Amino acid sequence: PRPIFLTRHGESMDNVRGRIGGDTVLSDVGELYAKKLGNFVVKRLKSERAASIWTSTLQRTILTASSIVGFPKIQWRALDEINAGVCDGMTYEEIKKNMPEEYEARKKDKLRYRYPRGESYLDVIQRLEPVIIELERQRAPVVVISHQAVLRALYSYFADRPLNEIPHIEMPLHTIIEIQMGVTGVQEKRYKLMD
Ligand code: F6P
Repeated sequence: PRPIFLTRHGESMDNVRGRIGGDTVLSDVGELYAKKLGNFVVKRLKSERAASIWTSTLQRTILTASSIVGFPKIQWRALDEINAGVCDGMTYEEIKKNMPEEYEARKKDKLRYRYPRGESYLDVIQRLEPVIIELERQRAPVVVISHQAVLRALYSYFADRPLNEIPHIEMPLHTIIEIQMGVTGVQEKRYKLMD
């Protein structure tokens, strides 16, 4: 059975500053993760000629994939992070202070809340459909390097988690989730590459 590997990008400069969205590069710690991920993937998949690496179109995932050499890489816009619309680039504190109604509305219903001129989790789930269809079709391993909200949705699909839980699933940085789909169901392993 072919595994699917899910991981967030390495820590970005926006992660360090607590800003959502954006398109920044990696921090030093994030770059270290990219190297460790590269070693892990090259070692695990060296005999898997048909394996591929899927990223979003944002710098932080593309940079996280840069140490993985010898495999084709595909950029998907559908793997880009949830679009925070007018809140892109803000911290949660700034949203709470400057747009308290938005902050409260999201807290009340994080699944359905849509950022003004942006997306909701439900929007993200919907745009992931072609990615899921393509993932199901693959016969070789795939490494998906994406973002917190997107990976919550993708993971929930494979792990069969209920819709309402999706926005609240823990999706830590610097951790690889390996999903194996076998006849007896889905098996999962986690690799934490940094402390
Ligand atoms: O903070 C990192 C990040 O990927 C943001 O870019 C994004 O808006 C957020 O996580 C999604 O998580 P949540 O839905 O919990 O705000």
